[in-house]
Amino acid sequence: MMADNSFDVLIIGGGPGGYVAAIRAAQLGLKTACVDKRGSLGGTCLNIGCIPSKALLQSSHHYAEARQHFALHGIKLGKIELDLPTMMARKQKVVSDNTKGIEFLFKKHKVVYLVGEARLAGAGRVAVKTAEGEQSLTAKSIVIATGSEVTPLPGVAIDEKQIVSSTGALDLAQVPKQLVVIGAGVIGLELGSVWGRLGAEVTVIEYLDRALPFHDGEISRQMQRILERQGLRFKLGTKVTAAKNGKGGVTLTLEPAKGGPAEELTAEVVLVAIGRRPCTDGLGIEEAGVEIDNRGFVKVDSHFRTSVAGVYAIGDVIGGAMLAHKAEEEGVAVAEQLAGQAGHVNYEAIPGVVYTWPEVANVGKTEEQLTAEGVAYKTGKFPFSANGRARANGDSEGFVKILADAKTDRVLGCHIIGPEAGDLIAEVVLGMEFAAAAEDIARTCHAHPGLGEAVKEAALAVAGRPIHI
Ligand code: FAD
Ligand code: NAI
Repeated sequence: MMADNSFDVLIIGGGPGGYVAAIRAAQLGLKTACVDKRGSLGGTCLNIGCIPSKALLQSSHHYAEARQHFALHGIKLGKIELDLPTMMARKQKVVSDNTKGIEFLFKKHKVVYLVGEARLAGAGRVAVKTAEGEQSLTAKSIVIATGSEVTPLPGVAIDEKQIVSSTGALDLAQVPKQLVVIGAGVIGLELGSVWGRLGAEVTVIEYLDRALPFHDGEISRQMQRILERQGLRFKLGTKVTAAKNGKGGVTLTLEPAKGGPAEELTAEVVLVAIGRRPCTDGLGIEEAGVEIDNRGFVKVDSHFRTSVAGVYAIGDVIGGAMLAHKAEEEGVAVAEQLAGQAGHVNYEAIPGVVYTWPEVANVGKTEEQLTAEGVAYKTGKFPFSANGRARANGDSEGFVKILADAKTDRVLGCHIIGPEAGDLIAEVVLGMEFAAAAEDIARTCHAHPGLGEAVKEAALAVAGRPIHI
């Protein structure tokens, strides 16, 4: 039991939103506590999300490279074998090293960390169910950062063995012969890629009429073609209406989304990846009077204030882009506001990355959004097949596309498919933070030979003057 249980700030949830808010609040001199029920800090991201998925993406990428590409570079190997237990053990070590790292940072910044399930228990009060019993804590400000959980699909019950969520798909004991992924979004394509590279026959079923349906259309179409060449199969415009577990696997009933005759598809493992929903169970928000919207997201104003004075919310639980770095930005902003500073998040410049190979990265508006908003824009495109470094690397699929305002030249969006796209997008995000024109990026010197030259050339192409195409 804690002797001193009153704080300036109490944060519920130790994910990227919560732990970053806690560290920033403590840096600013606020007496801070963070409660998480998981028993391991870092939330979804470090434990069952970003970090383990990227560890497996990297390992499976190496495996695919060794099998398919090393020979092209003149490297001959003997028999290449998969050692899945070692791959999984490495992933788990990466996770635990990262989560322990956050515990270290809490100690360094004197953030009080409590393992337990928190519930709002009246003005400025939080009850925490811990292994030693219930504790009552008080705080001037309470920040809800309880994140999100898998959205279930009616008729397809997740057992984390045959029918898995992303959590089960990060922990399969063997490579399934067939994997059906329901949902061609970010998780579907990343984890479909992992198991496809390791040898599973992967079929991705998507309700809408394209993969990555919320990305720029040109990106979605090209990415689907690239992944098909890698062996993934897509069934678009299709819904899953039932699932039956059996010895030979799971038999799914599929129907065209627009109606039509049903068909069946059997797979050893099925992954449900149709999105995530806010996590507020057991938090007592209704009793506390914290308003939520019709999808269950906690409602906040532009200062992360909920409908209850002294209670704030950040991260996945408030909706918007359900991304770790968006949650982190909000964590910093809310802490700075609580310390009397002017914390702020620029939602126009939040990048998104799909860590397939090649990667997909985006920031700002898509062509479809600009058209719908009636904004006149110019497009500059440059393919990696014309980039010296990409060719030298043997990794020249994809392109960079920059969208800029037709009148002012201000960069409105950037969409990349390509090697290291997730890192390349950073300069465009920075540019957008400074309201850069495409001309600014075009006139910036980029090292040669570098993948970043493709970004510069796309910016030059906005003005119709790329050098290398
Ligand atoms: P969370 O990380 O969900 O943390 C919330 C924490 O609150 C949890 O630890 C939970 O235990 C705790 N909690 C909940 N209720 C209570 C309670 N009542 N009392 C105490 N504790 C409680 N995003 C990216 O940006 N990049 C990626 O590459 C990426 N990959 C992903 C891969 C997968 C497979 C998944 C599932 C997600 C991925 N995400 C990625 C999304 C990212 O994980 C989330 O956006 C991010 O974790 C949200 O942070 P958060 O702090 O809002 O919530
Ligand atoms: P998502 O929203 O990216 O994709 C879900 C997909 O499922 C969509 O294409 C949707 O149209 C489809 N869908 C919805 N209902 C369906 C149904 N009944 N049948 C078939 N298809 C259906 O969600 P996903 O992939 O589950 O990821 C959840 C969250 O985690 C996302 O918000 C994402 O931002 C985050 N995440 C981020 C990653 C990254 O940044 N690299 C990696 C993984 C997850």
